[in-house]
Amino acid sequence: EINEVIDYFLKHMTLNYEKVLWILSLNEENLKEKIYKVADIVNKTLNTDIVTLKGVIEFSNYCKKSCYYCGIRVQNDIIKRYRIPIDEIFEIAKNGVESGLTTIILQSGEDDFYSDDDLEKLIFRIHHELKTAVSISIGERSKEAYKRFRNAGASKVLLKHEAINRKIFEDVHPDKDYDLRIELLDYLVELGYITGSGNIIGLPGQTLEDIAKDIIFMKEHNIKMIGMGPFISTHNTPLENLENGSAELTLNAYAATRLTIPFAQMPATTALGTIDRNYQFKALNCGCNVIMVNLTPDEYRENYNIYDEKIKVDLLGTAQRILDMGLKIPPYTLRNLFIKEAQYGFSNE
Ligand code: 5AD
Repeated sequence: EINEVIDYFLKHMTLNYEKVLWILSLNEENLKEKIYKVADIVNKTLNTDIVTLKGVIEFSNYCKKSCYYCGIRVQNDIIKRYRIPIDEIFEIAKNGVESGLTTIILQSGEDDFYSDDDLEKLIFRIHHELKTAVSISIGERSKEAYKRFRNAGASKVLLKHEAINRKIFEDVHPDKDYDLRIELLDYLVELGYITGSGNIIGLPGQTLEDIAKDIIFMKEHNIKMIGMGPFISTHNTPLENLENGSAELTLNAYAATRLTIPFAQMPATTALGTIDRNYQFKALNCGCNVIMVNLTPDEYRENYNIYDEKIKVDLLGTAQRILDMGLKIPPYTLRNLFIKEAQYGFSNE
């Protein structure tokens, strides 16, 4: 059957639902390693062996939403809330670009404290003054706002669909914004954003069929960046007693996705790294080609608890480990890291 999957891929350059499902269901070590290898070869042939590093600034942990899995949901009153002032966000982005990052991701809870105007100006400054790609990950804003952000210079958006099965989605999102989310996602693609989405692996009631449908949904809706992470149980949330998602299944999902959407930018997620740091790097040999590193200053980052024990992915350590694996990082990133070598003791021996 594995040969059938490979033949199908070579003929169509994608997989169908049944074949995705077959990969997701693999348990046998032998078969998994084979399919990971195929996904890896496809990734490295089509996308090279360069792992792109993107910098995330988690600029606010205020959120008006109530997502059952998430630690920064509005009802969680035991976390310390913060907002980073606009000028400070710009300085953090500047530092990230000087360190060699080529995409700055502005991420936050759904926080209307920052007006569309504020964000538009910030995006414009970061994009034009720092000459860098700007990606926004701020949840559901109006179509008008997203249009303005696009014109201001944002070229990428992350808006996870979380679960394409409506029942699963609505069971963990009490405002039941399913239709709105999908419509907005399609609109972002239409606006010309490189659009990212993704799902959580291990939500209540989820089957392998559901995850296969998540992957096929992203293919059919022209999603170019795919963030899939395991569910992580988080204290003081309605799902605090649910088991964590499976790291093994997450790797299967990465391999299946690489063979379904071959040119996708697909991070080895921080959520996977939080469950098992080694798996996050293993994912780079199972189809993943991006890692997001954390630019948020520690005093704020410690409170960006979307899930428990969220790890800090640091630029230098991560770059070093990628190079140690025999993989590459983008030349601009490598160059700027070397410029900082004396300062930080970075080496590539
Ligand atoms: N476990 C895993 N992923 C989570 N996210 C939020 N909370 C959790 C959790 N408990 C993910 C969601 C969201 C992104 C910012 O983080 O997919 O879109």
